[in-house]
Amino acid sequence: MFAERRHRRIAQLMGFLSEADFGYPDRDTLYDRLVFFATRAAFLGLNFSADEKYVGRLADWYEEVELGTKISLFSAKEYRQHLKSWGVEKRRIISYMVEKTLAYKQYEPKVKLFLEQLKQLENSKDHPDHIAQDVFNIKLNGKDYVIKIRHMRNVSDYLMGTSYIAGEDHFEQIVAASFEDGVIISEKIPGKQFDQLSAEEVMSISDEQICRGFKSLLQAQDRRLPMENKSKNIMYDHEEGFGFIDFISFFSAIEDNEGASDLLDYYFIPLFRIIVHSVGIPFWLITNNRQSIKDYILGCQRELAMIDRMKPIVLELLTSPEDKARMAKVMDDDCDYFTQEIKAYQDEKFLIEKFGEIEE
Ligand SMILES: Nc1ncnc2c1ncn2[C@@H]1O[C@H](COP(=O)(O)OP(=O)(O)O)[C@@H](O)[C@H]1O
Ligand SMILES: [Mg+2]
Repeated sequence: MFAERRHRRIAQLMGFLSEADFGYPDRDTLYDRLVFFATRAAFLGLNFSADEKYVGRLADWYEEVELGTKISLFSAKEYRQHLKSWGVEKRRIISYMVEKTLAYKQYEPKVKLFLEQLKQLENSKDHPDHIAQDVFNIKLNGKDYVIKIRHMRNVSDYLMGTSYIAGEDHFEQIVAASFEDGVIISEKIPGKQFDQLSAEEVMSISDEQICRGFKSLLQAQDRRLPMENKSKNIMYDHEEGFGFIDFISFFSAIEDNEGASDLLDYYFIPLFRIIVHSVGIPFWLITNNRQSIKDYILGCQRELAMIDRMKPIVLELLTSPEDKARMAKVMDDDCDYFTQEIKAYQDEKFLIEKFGEIEE
């Protein structure tokens, strides 16, 4: 009970920090002593006296303040009123953050040990479990997880974003997080980052998996999940199909009763284009070499075939006639583009104009 209250107060301060307008010297001072400020804010307000670190930070900000000056950011009453103004959405997110930070306790000893080991390394990329920048595989209680090491501000952003899709298959699920240790522990999504797949691997994705991938996006939109759909945030596994990761949000971006983002612009078109482009060759890689031109044309042909294959699957999932028509147009326009490209790069006159000379 006591632990829950403590975690709630910390989550509330993180929420407040991601919403209210602070300068970085104030914000970072609060982060430095998060637990201290979180436990007293509702009774004593957010205030402190300027120490050396604060004075230094303000100097970076071209502002001067004397050592020991009393800085009063928010009174206890203002703080409490602010928290009271939060609607259902923000309260839901706070509860989610409490749940995940409470769950951290069971992993804490092992994670702390891992962080210690990591510190011993000159370059954390050398760790055998390194996956990406400050992201590692980790086994906890016999299960495979991914651990991300982030500033507490980003831990909060990830929790806020991922809270929208809790419990949904094929989406990253956070199991625990800690602001103080700066970590997020997520279930491991199997497979490879989409940008690391070969054209052959992408072409062998089944129709069912493509369908399931776009269906996931219908769920994402329905739950108003903030997504940054780029190839690094999409995983693909031969058995499990598509998996989506890396969702962030912050309180200043959240409004109650806000409508969902556009299904096509934010969800469908990005995934569609990522899949199509990953079977082709980007135009900036074409050189005046005959083979490279041939490869480029082949890539365009594969892109055309991929669009053809995806078209009925994707259109079938759209219920609104406007969406159907607009998505069909996007696909047709892309087809036109690739058809034009093939025609152009098969035309000797165009090639001579473009490259001058062609290397056989
Ligand atoms: N839950 C996960 N399962 C599998 N791989 C993951 C997971 N989370 C992150 N990764 C890997 O780590 C990379 C970086 O993680 P991400 O959450 O996208 O952080 P960033 O904010 O650095 O983009 C991803 O592109 C992916 O390869
Ligand atoms: Mg990412």
